[in-house]
Amino acid sequence: MNREAISLSIAIPSLLNNVDVVSVCIEESLKNYLDDEQLYWVSFALREIVVNAIVHGNLSDEKKPVVVEMSFENDTLEFCVKDKGRGFLEKDLICHEKFIEKLDYERGLGNVLVKKLMDSIECRKERNWFVVKLLKRLGGKK
Ligand SMILES: Nc1ncnc2c1ncn2[C@@H]1O[C@H](COP(=O)(O)OP(=O)(O)O)[C@@H](O)[C@H]1O
Ligand SMILES: [Mg+2]
Repeated sequence: MNREAISLSIAIPSLLNNVDVVSVCIEESLKNYLDDEQLYWVSFALREIVVNAIVHGNLSDEKKPVVVEMSFENDTLEFCVKDKGRGFLEKDLICHEKFIEKLDYERGLGNVLVKKLMDSIECRKERNWFVVKLLKRLGGKK
């Protein structure tokens, strides 16, 4: 059965306190469609990417926005997280995953976990934004 499409866009100043604001909005919008476990892991993955956008992308400069766009249509959940920073290369994601045993488990695990939790993670420069796009196909609430 096709659910109604949902879409949402949130812009926050680059302060870590605002990560909770994003989680609450996303969880509220999806809670009728995903089960608790799906919601937990999707929200976990998104938080990692939003924290990265704030800290690594915008260097916690609260004058710079982070934008989170969500769409959920035909069982495919998509997030685009945009920041104003220089970004990083997609190949660095693979590099981190390959050398996971060398990581110190305090830094560098976020993207690896997100890659495991979501079906895909892609990064690109788009005009004056750095964009991380996450995709996940979900069966929906049982
Ligand atoms: N939005 C971003 N802009 C610039 N660099 C980023 C961004 N997200 C991640 N990175 C880079 O990728 C690295 C790995 O990110 P992550 O796996 O979350 O580890 P951590 O945040 O613990 O360093 C970061 O240390 C940073 O160098
Ligand atoms: Mg991180």
